[in-house]
Formats: sequence, structure tokens, C-alpha cells
Amino acid sequence: MEENKKRILTGDRTTGRLHLGHYVGSLKTRVELQDEYDTFILLADVQALTTHFNNPELINDSIYQVAMDNLAVGLDPRKVTFVQQSQIASIAELTIFYSMIVTVNQLRHNPTIKTEAKNYGYSDLTYGFLGYPVSQTADITFCNADLVPVGEDQVPHIELSRKIVRKFNDLYGTSITEPEAKLSNVGRLCGLDGNAKMGKSMGNAIYLSDPAEVLTQKVMNAVTDTNRISIKIPGNPDVCTVYTYHKVFNPEESDNICSMCKNAQIGCVACKKLLAKKMNSIFEPIRERRHYYEEHRDEVRALIVAGSEKANGIGDDNLALIKEKMHVTI
Ligand code: TRP
Repeated sequence: MEENKKRILTGDRTTGRLHLGHYVGSLKTRVELQDEYDTFILLADVQALTTHFNNPELINDSIYQVAMDNLAVGLDPRKVTFVQQSQIASIAELTIFYSMIVTVNQLRHNPTIKTEAKNYGYSDLTYGFLGYPVSQTADITFCNADLVPVGEDQVPHIELSRKIVRKFNDLYGTSITEPEAKLSNVGRLCGLDGNAKMGKSMGNAIYLSDPAEVLTQKVMNAVTDTNRISIKIPGNPDVCTVYTYHKVFNPEESDNICSMCKNAQIGCVACKKLLAKKMNSIFEPIRERRHYYEEHRDEVRALIVAGSEKANGIGDDNLALIKEKMHVTI
């Protein structure tokens, strides 16, 4: 059965718990596709070191947090394979081979690298940070993944992966699968402060693990149309963060809310309360599942160990073929 299915590999850096930006950008798609695809979820603990090399104890706990977030949203542990990046030797080896054919300019001009470097305040990038899209290419290709569900910030990386794979296959006659990005149909979720991106580094995120009261509080503090100084004047939903959230999480009511806002028939407080209620109803089952895994960390650990072992089998086999083609044998 499994052999006939196409494969997904996607994942997250293990630098903390996941938020609704991750959910909308990729996690939801993972859940929707898990029956159709043989799904691998990578816990990217090596990539986490690109920004958190001086804080490794945070990464260890985050491996569990990220796995639990993925399980909480509804990935079925009997179907998906959890892979701990640092445990997969073939990823590290492939990274080195790929690094011979990717150029520094290709990496330097990557728009996501540029934005992230700016957000983190880096001026002199480490080799590992600049090169993480190369290691990400190894993440995706060690198991010949076909599809990579990701948020739009990751698209430049997948484009680079495709270039690397094509060049590599051309050079050595290998048949590594050229992966394709799969974007969510909702697009990017903005931060609660109206910032274009929700991010854990930006203090504007709702986490999947936030309790209902915290979610409600965050929604109540979100930025709306700043020109609407009184409930009596019409609002402009087009510039309102809360309205963008209604469109994503409350599509059934969003048209109605839009026209009520424009006609000054609903105030921001009532509008936010409606949103928080709807969101809490969506996230309640997710919190319940998360709670189960928080109480059963040993199960989470076993899943990661077994998944990584399976991934190593696949990666080692593929790497042996690749090395043969490259003539790095004896
Ligand atoms: N770069 C991704 C992120 O920051 C995480 C990641 C690592 C990833 N390896 C991957 C995503 C492979 C997709 C495929 O979220």
C-alpha cells in the first residue's frame, strides 16, 4: 500500500511551541493530506541550532513540544513518521555533497535568508545559517519526498532544492526526486498586532497550546481599524486584523460581520468576542489531544525513536546508491 503512495516530507525547527501561523501555513495541509501521502514530519533540531546554537537545552524540550503540536492538530501517529533530524546521518552526508554544487551567491540572494538575518539582527552570518537551505534540501531528498507542504516564506528554499537536485542528477546520473512546494489555500496569517507575519520572535502569536482564556485575551488585544475611534462610526474591515482572522477561522459569518462593521452595527469588542468563541471551538479538540500527549511523553518519545529508525533505513539505502553513482566508494 504505502509503496504506491507519493511521499510528503515537511517539518519545523524545534525552537519552541508552534503557533497559528504554522497551523494555517502548513499543519492543516499535513492533516488533510496524511491519508493520500506517506507522510514524514521532520523535527528540525539541527536547523534549530542555526539560530539557537547557544541555547541547546531549549531545543531538546522543543523537540517534544513540536511533535506534540503536530499530533494535537490531528496527525495520526499510526500513519505518519516522525523524524528527528539530528539522528539521521544520511541527511548530514547529503548536505555535504550538495554543498559542493550550490554557490554562495545562490544562498546570499535568498530572500528568506535575508529577511531572517535582518529580523535576528545578524550582520555576519554563520556558515550553518547561510547554508541551512542546503541542509533542508537534504532533509527533503534523503527519502525522495515528492511534496513539501510549507508556508510561503519557504518557497525560495524549495526552488533552490529543485535546482540542486536537477544539477546533482545531471552530474552524477542519480534519480533523486525533484520536490514540489504545496502552499495552503489560505495564505499567510498576519500577527495580532497587524504585522505581516506571526512569529514567536515577534510577540504577536497565538500558540496551539494556549489555553482558551489566553487565546481570548490575545484576540481582545488585537489591533483593529485604528481610525475607528467610536462604535458609532463605520469601520474598515480591509485594514482590520480581526477581520482577516474571521475570514480564516470563521468564514461562515465573515461576510455578515464585514457588512455590520461597515454599517456601524457591530463594535470591535463584540466582533472580537465572536471570533474568540469560534476559534476556541476549533482549538478545543486540539488542546485536548495535546493534553493527552503532555501526559504521555513516553509515547511521543517512542514515536520519534521508531520513526527516526525507519527513516535511517530509507536514508542509508538511498545514500549508498548515491555514493556509488558519485564514485565515492572503495
Ligand atoms: N525551514 C523550516 C521552517 O523554518 C523547517 C524545515 C526544516 C523544513 N527542514 C525542512 C520544512 C524540510 C520543510 C521541509 O519552518
